[in-house]
Amino acid sequence: MESTTQRNDITFERVVSSKALKMGNSFSCQICVAGFLSGVCLTYFFLAALTSSGNVEFGGFSLLPASLGTLSQNSSSSDVFIGIESYTLLLTVDNGARKLHSQKDEELDRKEKIMLLYSAWTAMLNKSEDNIDSELWSKLGLNISQVPKAPHLENCKSSAQVNKFLDIRGENGRNPGWENWKGLLRMKVQQENSTVDTEQVHAEKMFKSEDTYPPWISGSDEDNFPLTRKVQHDIWIHQHPLNCSDPNLRFLVADWETKPGFGIGAQLAGMIGFLAIAINEKRILVTNYFNRADHDGCKGRSRSHWSCYFFPETSIECRDRAFDLMKIQEAWDSGIVTGKHNYRSKDIWAGRIPKVWGDPWLFLQPTTEINGSLVRHHRKMDRRWWRAQAIRYLMRFQTDYTCDLLNVARHTAFGLQAAEMVLESLPGAWPEAVANNPLSDMEQYVWREHKPWIPRPLLSMHVRIGDKACEMKVVGFEEYMRLADRIRKRFPNLKNIWLSTEMQEVIDKSMSYPNWKFYYTNITRQVGNTSMASYEASLGRKTSTNYPMINFLMATEADFFIGALGSTWCFLIDGMRNTGGKVMAGYLSVNRDRFW
Ligand SMILES: *[C@@H]1O[C@H](CO)[C@@H](O)[C@H](O)[C@H]1NC(C)=O
Ligand SMILES: *[C@@H]1O[C@H](CO)[C@@H](O)[C@H](O)[C@H]1NC(C)=O
Ligand SMILES: *[C@@H]1O[C@H](CO)[C@@H](O)[C@H](O)[C@H]1NC(C)=O
Ligand SMILES: *[C@@H]1O[C@H](CO)[C@@H](O)[C@H](O)[C@H]1NC(C)=O
Ligand SMILES: *[C@@H]1O[C@H](CO)[C@@H](O)[C@H](O)[C@H]1NC(C)=O
Ligand SMILES: *[C@@H]1O[C@H](CO)[C@@H](O)[C@H](O)[C@H]1NC(C)=O
Ligand SMILES: *[C@@H]1O[C@H](CO)[C@@H](O)[C@H](O)[C@H]1NC(C)=O
Ligand SMILES: *[C@@H]1O[C@H](CO)[C@@H](O)[C@H](O)[C@H]1NC(C)=O
Repeated sequence: MESTTQRNDITFERVVSSKALKMGNSFSCQICVAGFLSGVCLTYFFLAALTSSGNVEFGGFSLLPASLGTLSQNSSSSDVFIGIESYTLLLTVDNGARKLHSQKDEELDRKEKIMLLYSAWTAMLNKSEDNIDSELWSKLGLNISQVPKAPHLENCKSSAQVNKFLDIRGENGRNPGWENWKGLLRMKVQQENSTVDTEQVHAEKMFKSEDTYPPWISGSDEDNFPLTRKVQHDIWIHQHPLNCSDPNLRFLVADWETKPGFGIGAQLAGMIGFLAIAINEKRILVTNYFNRADHDGCKGRSRSHWSCYFFPETSIECRDRAFDLMKIQEAWDSGIVTGKHNYRSKDIWAGRIPKVWGDPWLFLQPTTEINGSLVRHHRKMDRRWWRAQAIRYLMRFQTDYTCDLLNVARHTAFGLQAAEMVLESLPGAWPEAVANNPLSDMEQYVWREHKPWIPRPLLSMHVRIGDKACEMKVVGFEEYMRLADRIRKRFPNLKNIWLSTEMQEVIDKSMSYPNWKFYYTNITRQVGNTSMASYEASLGRKTSTNYPMINFLMATEADFFIGALGSTWCFLIDGMRNTGGKVMAGYLSVNRDRFW
């Protein structure tokens, strides 16, 4: 590329006004030149430029740090440089010749490579590796072997496969392979005939089924609610009987709540009530119609079912058996199968908590703080404990659909940062000179088990102000930020906040805290006082489900969380965290549960 350093006397505004804006009559350029370069827009441009039919010849593109002094000068074209991400895309066209305008070509080169890597990942997102448009690759000028692994993306197909293996009984009705070896390592051993194999078989005889614990709990016992491992094990066994055709088995088949006033949180709370009833009555819970999965993202059997988002609550065999029984009047009459209409709403919403495990809720560690003091005892501790167990069980394994949603969310929020980070570890000549090393067993079997990268430490904040006012005392965003500052005082390396909110007002307010870095999903938010129900309707079913689901799971993964225990949603997040190894992160709540 032609060096342009000799033209440094030309200010950027002139470069832009005379060249870039000239070509701004191309639609895709207008979008991007005119500012706000989110990842989405950049990518869009990138692809659009590459696939443009050619009547507008894009000479080249380059990225400049928005902080370059010349960029902020006042001029008619200053609005070209509204850098939302810290990069500004500057397009230059000079009769088809490629030109880069820069004060520091190296820096420019670096930014360009970051974008290239980011775009390559975008192209790979939610596509399997062998399924990528080869034409696209040649246009990007990349070979897939030149693209390093994205640290923030999970291989969803492979994860789902491993989880399937961990969610199914072994030969002769043995428990799933939960013993000691993790994930793929375990599968690898089973596929190979190694000496380890026979030793393994021998060693496994020492494990009794009751001693093995499900792999979806992380952290030590002290990092979780009491008895979490045992309870998760027992619920799974309860929901996955040896033989679903056993005539002694009884079932409870329940639809999810569908009334429009019910948020996802309330729907979950309802189903959690059914799970308690099922355990108490020794029935297998089978969940049926789930309106939130009634959209075209959920395909085949998972359409309109929980199994679109998470692994089903019971096995396919038991589900089929329950559905068969539902067709038989006698089965209803004799109570082999029951449904929602068999129970009063009091039993569902405020029913008896299973006592099978004693009363472990008396031993909850007091790590929740409200108004400056740790809450030692409160009412309904049993319900809090049970909801945590039940939600953890229901969400034990994500489907690849959910996993893909999270990939997209992470890529949009952290993708550029990840690209920058990875680029630093690559040889300077990337992408030209790149060693094409096949993945070693270490990468494939050991390090694969690590969770995708997110910028830690991360604080998740769920701010709900709108129409919740009727059920709890509403707290302003300032109070949330006051608590965030408090965490930061103790953990000064904390500066990232994943902000989950439906209120545009909250997003606007976050702008006035420049010493924090906020991440949030790009979605239309509630403005003014529209009701939650009508707001959700305006988003459409798919978005209005996927968006909160992503935020819920991000909140589960985050290092810290601030929310309002008064809302069912935050109550459930609290439950997921307390069964996900995060008890000792502590929970700062802006208010107390309305029932406490
Ligand atoms: C957010 O999404 C809308 C469309 O859904 C799009 O028009 C807008 O450019 C996006 N904004 C950012 C910052 O990505
Ligand atoms: C930019 O404009 C603002 C107000 O419009 C003015 O105060 C400032 O001096 C201008 N800066 C330059 C570099 O011209
Ligand atoms: C992922 O794939 C689905 C369907 O295949 C598609 O609708 C969606 O736009 C894709 N998302 C991205 C970010 O490519
Ligand atoms: C990409 O890399 C593979 C393996 O190194 C090689 O076989 C293939 O020819 C390369 N393709 C291109 C287009 O360079
Ligand atoms: C594993 O053992 C079986 C029979 O014992 C043999 O047929 C097969 O080839 C072996 N596989 C490998 C990978 O060694
Ligand atoms: C399951 O139970 C049914 C009914 O008792 C029986 O016919 C069937 O053989 C059993 N299946 C297995 C694998 O034990
Ligand atoms: C919070 O604590 C302070 C002093 O400890 C007390 O005066 C105040 O009433 C409490 N507020 C609430 C909402 O409990
Ligand atoms: C909602 O806001 C509009 C105007 O801002 C107002 O007229 C209306 O009374 C409000 N409704 C409620 C329920 O607060």
